[in-house]
Amino acid sequence: MNARIDRLWPRPSEDLGDEELLAAYPFPHGRSWLRMNFVTSIDGAATRSGRSGGLGDDADRRVFDLLRRPAHAVLVAAGTVRIEGYEAMRLDDEAVAWRVERGLPPHPVFALVTRSLDLDPASPLFTDAPVRPIVYTVASAPGHRREALDPVADVVDVGDRQVDLARLRSDLAARGCSRIHSEGGPSLFGAFLEAKAVDELCLTVAPTLESGSARRIARAPDPAPTETTLASVLRAADELFLRYVRR
Ligand SMILES: NC(=O)c1ccc[n+]([C@@H]2O[C@H](COP(=O)([O-])OP(=O)(O)OC[C@H]3O[C@@H](n4cnc5c(N)ncnc54)[C@H](OP(=O)(O)O)[C@@H]3O)[C@@H](O)[C@H]2O)c1
Repeated sequence: MNARIDRLWPRPSEDLGDEELLAAYPFPHGRSWLRMNFVTSIDGAATRSGRSGGLGDDADRRVFDLLRRPAHAVLVAAGTVRIEGYEAMRLDDEAVAWRVERGLPPHPVFALVTRSLDLDPASPLFTDAPVRPIVYTVASAPGHRREALDPVADVVDVGDRQVDLARLRSDLAARGCSRIHSEGGPSLFGAFLEAKAVDELCLTVAPTLESGSARRIARAPDPAPTETTLASVLRAADELFLRYVRR
C-alpha cells in the first residue's frame, strides 16, 4: 500500500493518488528545466551512516520513484552513484506504461557526471541499461578509462578540466532532454548553484535530528546564495515535502 501523502499548501488535499502527486511536481512546457531532489534531516544532515537512504521512509521512496517518471534524463554525479550503489535506470512496468501513453520513451536517459571516469563498465548500471547512459566528463579525464567506458556509454566532454554545467545542459537539450531530474549529490548541487543552473529543489525534510558531521545537501568551496520561492508543501505524517523554485 502507498504511504499516505497530503497536500498542505496550496489547495489542501488529503491522501494524494499518484496522478495528483505527479501533478504537484509539474515541469514547465517547452523549456529546459533542472530539478534537484534531496532528503535532509531537520538539522541539515544529508546522510545517516553515510547514505541518504537512512533518512528516507516509504513516503520519501514513493516521491523519489515518482519524480523519475516524467523525466527525460536522470542526472547523478559519480560520488553518489558509487556510494549509493546505483544500478541501471530502469523504471517499473507501471511507470513505463505511464510514459509510453504520454509519448515518452519507456525509460529516461541515465546521465552521469565525473571528472575521473572512475566508473566500472561491467556494472549493471551499464550492462543492464535499457537506454545507453551518457557520461559527462572533461577532456583531461584518463584515456584508458574513457576507452573502457566507450563500448557501454556515450562519453561526452563538456570542458577541459572542469565540467561546464551549461554545456552539459545544452548537450542534453540537443538530445531532446529538457526535463532534467537530478538526484545529486551535494558536490554536483554545489557546482550547479555556483553556475546558477538550478531551477527547482524538491526537498524531503525527514523528522529527525542527526547531529554528527554528516554533510549538507549542497557543498562547494565558495558560497552561492540563491533566492527561491516556495511552490508547494506536502506532508506524510511528520515528514515534509517542500518544493522550491528559483526566483
Ligand atoms: N540527502 C540526499 O538526498 C543525498 C543525495 C545524493 C547523495 N547524497 C549523499 O552524498 C554523499 C556523496 O557526496 P558527494 O558530494 O561526494 O557526491 P556527488 O556530488 O554525487 O559526487 C561527487 C563526485 O561526482 C563528480 N562530480 C560532482 N560534481 C562534479 C562537477 N561539477 N564536475 C565534475 N565532476 C563532478 C566527481 O566524480 P569523480 O570523483 O568521479 O571525478 C566528484 O568526485 C553520499 O554520502 C550520498 O549518500 C545524499
